[in-house]
Amino acid sequence: MTHTSNRTVSVERDSRVAYYRVSGSVLAGTVVLMLLGAYTSAIGAGLACPDWPACYGTVVPFLHPEVMAATPYTTLQVFAEWAHRGVASVVGLGIVGTALLAHTRQKRPLVRRTAALAVGLLPVQVLLGGLTVTRDLQPAVVTGHLGVALLILLSLATATVADYTTTA
Ligand code: HEM
Repeated sequence: MTHTSNRTVSVERDSRVAYYRVSGSVLAGTVVLMLLGAYTSAIGAGLACPDWPACYGTVVPFLHPEVMAATPYTTLQVFAEWAHRGVASVVGLGIVGTALLAHTRQKRPLVRRTAALAVGLLPVQVLLGGLTVTRDLQPAVVTGHLGVALLILLSLATATVADYTTTA
């Protein structure tokens, strides 16, 4: 093998390592986000931020003592719902980044398609998250929100593992 082709192989390998580090981190972040969503639901905090996309008409409700004094929810409940939205924003950006990396640096169709599926489902999930609040936890909406979360998780897991197991 020539010096140039050695270098090309090394650059490709670095590129793939960068990809699966990003996609693996985003996958882990999605699991944390889903657990935080389940916790929010379990402590009865689904409507602890009663509006959407803001929370009590503000970005950080904890900076407004009058808001926290007036809410019937505990600080933990408001924090759980608020943090779920915040973590969703970060994970959402990560999903977009994963799809961009898959599109520009990955050849395997399964990796590219599943990363594209995850990013395609993202706006649907954000919309369902908003409807979860504005439709007062309507069972069909909450169930849809969980279902799309599972689809995103499966897509990201496939987009990560399919790359990791690629030998070519
Ligand atoms: C990638 C983005 C998101 C994922 C993967 C996700 C995932 C989840 C999961 C798995 C649950 C638990 C469902 C259950 O236990 O039945 C949940 C709950 C919840 N999510 Fe999200 N979520 C996302 C974004 C959002 C956004 C943007 C909002 C905006 C308001 C939101 C609002 C909620 C609410 C209010 C609950 C609690 C529902 C309840 O009380 O039953 N989610 N989420």
